[in-house]
Amino acid sequence: MNEVSICVIGSGYVGLVAAVCFAEIGHRVICVDNDEAKVNLLRNGGVPIYERHLPELLKKHSGKGVEFTTDLGGAVRECEAVFIAVGTPQGDSGAADLSFVEAVVSEIAREISGYKVIVEKSTVPVYTNEWIRRVLNRLGVPTARFDVASNPEFLREGSAVEDFLHPDRIVVGAGTDRAAEVLRRIYAPLSEGTYYSRPDALPGMCSADKPAKLLVTSAQSAEIIKHASNAFLALKISFINAVSNLAESVEADIEDIAAGIGMDRRIGPRFLHAGLGYGGSCFPKDVAAFHWVAHQQGLNFQLLEEVRRINDAQREVFFNKVRSALWTLRGKKLAALGLAFKCDTDDIRESPALAVIRQLLDAGAQVQAYDPAAMERAKGVLPPSDKMSYAANPYEAAENADAVLILTEWGEFARLDLPRLNRLLKFPIVIDGRNLYRPQTMAEHGFTYVSMGRPANYEAQLGKPRKTL
Ligand code: UDX
Repeated sequence: MNEVSICVIGSGYVGLVAAVCFAEIGHRVICVDNDEAKVNLLRNGGVPIYERHLPELLKKHSGKGVEFTTDLGGAVRECEAVFIAVGTPQGDSGAADLSFVEAVVSEIAREISGYKVIVEKSTVPVYTNEWIRRVLNRLGVPTARFDVASNPEFLREGSAVEDFLHPDRIVVGAGTDRAAEVLRRIYAPLSEGTYYSRPDALPGMCSADKPAKLLVTSAQSAEIIKHASNAFLALKISFINAVSNLAESVEADIEDIAAGIGMDRRIGPRFLHAGLGYGGSCFPKDVAAFHWVAHQQGLNFQLLEEVRRINDAQREVFFNKVRSALWTLRGKKLAALGLAFKCDTDDIRESPALAVIRQLLDAGAQVQAYDPAAMERAKGVLPPSDKMSYAANPYEAAENADAVLILTEWGEFARLDLPRLNRLLKFPIVIDGRNLYRPQTMAEHGFTYVSMGRPANYEAQLGKPRKTL
């Protein structure tokens, strides 16, 4: 296996995972960040993000296959391939803000001595590849001395390491054979399967005889594959949410409907979970960016406007359920289970859970929240106050509350001790924004159970003897 020297610029959710995974498959990696504190934390064995397997891989490779530095110039000079994995946040118009990408490209330009492949790892609009080439040329770098390639990531937070090492596909957008050859070499351990034969390989879906698929295409096609993939996944979620609202109006059950739809192999069961809708740093941003890209080309991608509208409306749908179940909200004490935008992550960016909690606080309710991983980040945006408190576990949050709200699909919230929960609550009311329970189970435990896209069962409260208030 020929080792490639790789520079990864940016040590966030994408860059850090890419850096340690490139080292895991046998390359020599220099991971660059301009945040000195973060670089020092990483050098001292710290793990700045909550990702399964990341601590183990950092321990295994930090200081060996991957080193951390703030010295971008030195890293670029030493490496054959330079991956740009800096943030591309959403700008006001919906367009991706590429100022961090451009700043990094300008720094790279000063350091290019021998041939380099500059690789877009960040999610960027189509033709960014062309822009990077233009900027490097303007800064005096001869065209023969570099190529710009696109290598979009398809990492889900919470399973990013597995998604990298056991990908559904690796997409490479390269304008020249020379650039394509470098990226083929980089991904050979996965696309040829040699990585999976190693005794220390991370187990997963791929194997030596079923290695990762590698798709080599043009840069523009690779850039669109990324945006279109995320937009389609977001579309699937908004579609099932729109169907769930219809299902509820005719007392159907969205979970059965989703199961019935998903049995069609052309549709598949995944990403058909109705609920509070999507959040995170990707779907909202990528749907807006893809819409903007189309608009720039004179096309009106109206479908994406509807995807976003339906998603935003789901928070309102849930809020109205809380109000219908509790009548007045002012002064009510609500247990909020979940703060992260999804399970298995500490990330609260664009979190539907936080959006709902803010609405409830504005309506005068008191919220006591619990999340297995995201509480510290949440306190940064919703500091503890007389109205907003944080509990050590779901049961402390539920103590003497008027209702429990399930806002994030953490596994532990689907396995609560229901009799204990019932005893702790002032009223046995559960409003489930992620459909973690079966209505029948909740009725048997004496709960009023309200969920998404399914009939509510208010009569359960009358069915069981209640403790004296
Ligand atoms: C997503 C894409 O899955 C990934 O391929 C891409 O690289 C980055 O964006 P991520 O945002 O980390 O990954 O999480 P994902 O698991 O896709 O969930 C996104 C959001 O959709 C979460 O808020 C989740 O709660 C929600 N969701 C997901 C649903 O509401 N219903 C579903 O069926 C699935």
